Amino acid sequence: MELPSTALRLVAHPGEAARELVDEIEALAGECRGRRALVLGLATGNSMLAFYDEWVARIAAGRIDPAGCTAFHLDEYAGLAEDDPRGFRRWMEQRLYDRVPWPRDRRHFPAVADDPADAARLAREYEQRIVDAGGIDLQLLGIGRNGHIGFNEPGSAASSRTRRVELAPSTREDAAKSFGSLASVPRFATTVGVATILAARRIRLLAFGAAKAGALSRALRSTVSAQCPASFLREHQDLRVFADHAAAGELRGSVQR
Ligand code: GLP
Repeated sequence: MELPSTALRLVAHPGEAARELVDEIEALAGECRGRRALVLGLATGNSMLAFYDEWVARIAAGRIDPAGCTAFHLDEYAGLAEDDPRGFRRWMEQRLYDRVPWPRDRRHFPAVADDPADAARLAREYEQRIVDAGGIDLQLLGIGRNGHIGFNEPGSAASSRTRRVELAPSTREDAAKSFGSLASVPRFATTVGVATILAARRIRLLAFGAAKAGALSRALRSTVSAQCPASFLREHQDLRVFADHAAAGELRGSVQR
């Protein structure tokens, strides 16, 4: 099955994708205004930097009211203090929450716990919070070199939900720079599941740079399978992929659905 050509948006640079995405968020926020909060699933990573800069600028210009938005975050490393600069919570504060008046009770981070029973309970509570908020209107995603989405590493089932996971070697290698060494990178994390992601009404995936070309090609062209969790996104009815020419470099021919 073909992925509709409109689902793949080739951009010259991340800033172009950022503008289009923030345009969409502005329009969605306008539709929700006065009725309910716009519920966003937010991601971290270098792919998201231009997007957050653009969004903060649009909020500063008075065109989007953060008080009308609720955020649910995708993933977090295990074993870090909440204010650890290497954690995704602090990353998000620096790129978004320290810069705009976003209500504290509308920022949701998946909790991490070492005890399996605690981790499972907190994961269920997180899923319930998303349901109680009305579900995610728009989920932002990056993609890992190994085809992961969030921290749903290869082997993650389409039916997977929020849970504690063990990180793949390539994921830990990619994180080694920001942690100072491979040994310092946590072995475990919490991630929302593939099914949680697929339940969002819209999914927007960002992939920039040649390092993502292989993963993006497997995600959009190879057989849909748990070996490349991002491939499950092709089963979603409202997927849009923003890629620059380097990331799209291995997408020759048709994009299969
Ligand atoms: C981490 C995160 C993912 C993110 C990925 C890509 O592994 N868990 O959610 O999509 O990195 O990050 P980057 O955009 O920095 O390449």
